[in-house]
Amino acid sequence: MQKLSNRIVTVNRSPVIFGPDSYPALDRLVKSMHPHRVFILVDENTHQHCMPQLFNSVTTLAGAKVLKITGGESSKSFDNAVALWKELLTLGTDRSGLIINLGGGVVSDLGGFVASNFLRGIRYINIPTSLMAMSDAAIGGKTAVNVGFMKNQVGSFYPPAAIFIFPLFLETLSRDHLRSGFAEIVKSALIGNEGLWKKIKAHPVSEVLDIPADSPFWHHLILATATLKNRIVERDFREKKERKALNFGHTIGHALESYFMQTGAGELFHGDAVAAGMMGAVWLSAKKNFLSPAQLEVVCRYLREGFPRIKIENDAIPEVLGFMKSDKKRMAGLVTFTLLAKPGTPVLNIPCSEDEVTEALEFINSFSPSHHEKSLSQ
Ligand code: GLY
Repeated sequence: MQKLSNRIVTVNRSPVIFGPDSYPALDRLVKSMHPHRVFILVDENTHQHCMPQLFNSVTTLAGAKVLKITGGESSKSFDNAVALWKELLTLGTDRSGLIINLGGGVVSDLGGFVASNFLRGIRYINIPTSLMAMSDAAIGGKTAVNVGFMKNQVGSFYPPAAIFIFPLFLETLSRDHLRSGFAEIVKSALIGNEGLWKKIKAHPVSEVLDIPADSPFWHHLILATATLKNRIVERDFREKKERKALNFGHTIGHALESYFMQTGAGELFHGDAVAAGMMGAVWLSAKKNFLSPAQLEVVCRYLREGFPRIKIENDAIPEVLGFMKSDKKRMAGLVTFTLLAKPGTPVLNIPCSEDEVTEALEFINSFSPSHHEKSLSQ
């Protein structure tokens, strides 16, 4: 059995301190920062399920003020940021203030955004509690709020002082949230770690979701993903080049999320949208002869079997395309994609035409493992 121990992943910009016994390190870090005031940003779930553990384990936080938002993507709004800034001002916060974001991606994106602008920037620490945030959102210093139905349109690159990952918080997640986060792990493996992809594809998603939170399997996956992400971010913090690989599956994924938000078509988990987006991106990768049809089949089979099928009606395709065209991942008016040459090897900045993207969306609708060759040749 692999020993579960604390690990620190890179230290240049924002160390990721990983492991079940990292509370003393968090205690020491907060003390050493000498904050005039400490705030803990939570949603109702992390308030109930994660905060007691944090307060019990980190004595320095005894006097911290808790700031609470409602969970869910609609909380990542400019209105909430303004409300939080007002609260910080009312409480007389100065530049030595510290915000601890205890939650998933909504909490860390919003809390980071609030920290990055308040008094031109105060310090913050991320403690991700969802798999999504542990493996992606809480690492890398991207902060954001949504504007209308457009995801992450206003934000900053502003690194946290540190990220503390306690894998046991996975126990507080629903199966849907766990699956959603797992999509980001699949993404990381596909763009940067072929060995990890081979390990993942040996386990169907339904089986993975039954693995207990404190098992070495999850620790290995989270640590590998966090390490990969931190390495990429260290080299390309402002996403000029290499960091774009992390957008794999997100160009289509974000457009689907925006479309679902706008039409109120029901809840769409980020990871499920990204899984559909990855299917579209691997289809484009094969269409443009970067990826072999055999790899297309393997990757899409895994994604189709593990994640819900998202059906995009034909007459909705122009609207989904519209969201893509106004997303950030475009250059000179063209929608550009991160594609794959093979699992573990991304190809960056590939412009795709509207027709190609339309076909990719149709492929997402229609793919079933035995039909891909027909779809490809259409
Ligand atoms: N979630 C993609 C990135 O942080 O670059």
